[in-house]
Amino acid sequence: MNSYKYLFIILLFKFLIVIIQCQPTIECQGDYQCGVQPQALCYKGLNILPGIGLDETNQRVVIVGKFNGSSNAPSNVNNVITVPFGGGKPSILFPITTDLSGGPGYSMVLGLYGYLRQTNTPYIHNSQRAAPVVGPYHGGDTSIPNVWYIRGYNLGLYFDEVNKRTFYCDWNLHRVSNIPKTVDEKNAGDTIMLDGSYQNNRCNFLGLKDTNLLYVVQVDYANTVVTNISKIPVGCNNCSLSELKFVLSVPVEAGSFVMSNTHFYLGMKPTWSSNTSSGIMQIPINGGPSKMLTNDPVVSMALDSANTRIFYTTTNNEVKSVGPLGSSTPAVSVLYQSAASPLNRCACAPGFTGDQCQTCYNGKVRYLSNGTPQCVALLADGRPSNCIFDYECGNVPMAYCDGICACRTNFTGSFYN
Ligand SMILES: *[C@@H]1O[C@H](CO)[C@@H](O)[C@H](O)[C@H]1NC(C)=O
Ligand SMILES: *[C@@H]1O[C@H](CO)[C@@H](O)[C@H](O)[C@H]1NC(C)=O
Ligand SMILES: *[C@@H]1O[C@H](CO)[C@@H](O)[C@H](O)[C@H]1NC(C)=O
Ligand SMILES: *[C@@H]1O[C@H](CO)[C@@H](O)[C@H](O)[C@H]1NC(C)=O
Ligand SMILES: *[C@@H]1O[C@H](CO)[C@@H](O)[C@H](O)[C@H]1NC(C)=O
Repeated sequence: MNSYKYLFIILLFKFLIVIIQCQPTIECQGDYQCGVQPQALCYKGLNILPGIGLDETNQRVVIVGKFNGSSNAPSNVNNVITVPFGGGKPSILFPITTDLSGGPGYSMVLGLYGYLRQTNTPYIHNSQRAAPVVGPYHGGDTSIPNVWYIRGYNLGLYFDEVNKRTFYCDWNLHRVSNIPKTVDEKNAGDTIMLDGSYQNNRCNFLGLKDTNLLYVVQVDYANTVVTNISKIPVGCNNCSLSELKFVLSVPVEAGSFVMSNTHFYLGMKPTWSSNTSSGIMQIPINGGPSKMLTNDPVVSMALDSANTRIFYTTTNNEVKSVGPLGSSTPAVSVLYQSAASPLNRCACAPGFTGDQCQTCYNGKVRYLSNGTPQCVALLADGRPSNCIFDYECGNVPMAYCDGICACRTNFTGSFYN
């Protein structure tokens, strides 16, 4: 063997060591094992936000949430996370980089509102300057587009990906002739099916049967809480209310809803006004006895395309499934339980890199009120790419933070001199 071969082997070893040291794969028990404090974290429990999607190509459940560090405080990053259909530890698909936990540019993820299975696109529910919006997020995007601006109403939303259309309700019931990625696309294809300005309509959930009947689910809090289901032809254009046909009423509060061509599934919240507990209730569309599939405290549900299994999350930060739905005794499977199987994986606080999380490359460190740092990338002109506090902007009070650093009226010049 000549010396070049030795050199090659030595380099190969160094390369492997670098790979092994790479943060995300390191097992840990405490933050200190992961590198420089306080920016190196040992991710433990997962705090799951509302919402669930299914990536059927890769057989994974998609959720959104924050991991706790070993100090048992949530880290400051929301991630799009996947869990295998067959169960196992969660993997981070990508961090959501738009969160800004304070200041005039405030932006915070509230959950997953929808999920496109054909393109694996999460629709994120986000609070922006205190106004909730819903829009697609692909990872690395600098903002979450406001396709829906949910102010003062509950957004019932259903994507019919097969027929490339979307149904939603705000104060009206709408059909959109596309799957909108922007508010302009939504407005361009928008038709009002039922006009709420002269007939009082709103809805919590929507579902489709046989491509031509839209089911509208309304939770009615008037006396005792009931959930009502009605149906309307999908082709309705400003129909009269008589086209909305009442189907059934259940004395429970639905917190989530999915349906197949044969059954409705209500994710029940425990209700103050009746004895109902939590769980998933299966109700045949054409009548017949309903039954409980589980009493778990369900938050969100997703039905697989074959209509054989429901995947769901619970208030206990669990991911579970129940099926086969056609069986007389569907069984619950546990996919992930945060408390029982902590992730124990090293991660760096937002923006930090390096095998010890030691580097804030071309960035400026901001400390949040709870003491955790963030490395904020700098723009070409030297400003941080976003800000929470005025001090981040240099020449205070001539400079100030407006989500991004800005100069007060009639002041110009560089931010850092
Ligand atoms: C994360 O930490 C918070 C604050 O200590 C705690 O309330 C929460 O239950 C923890 N979450 C998990 C999933 O362990
Ligand atoms: C829901 O159904 C009940 C029982 O049929 C009815 O009394 C109530 O008015 C309905 N609520 C709405 C909002 O349609
Ligand atoms: C729908 O029809 C009603 C009654 O004819 C009318 O008052 C209303 O303006 C119409 N709405 C739309 C959006 O066309
Ligand atoms: C609640 O449960 C109690 C005891 O199981 C029963 O007697 C009562 O009728 C129930 N009430 C309702 C509103 O279902
Ligand atoms: C800024 O400068 C313009 C032009 O000199 C002047 O008219 C205006 O009053 C100034 N504004 C303030 C807030 O001083």
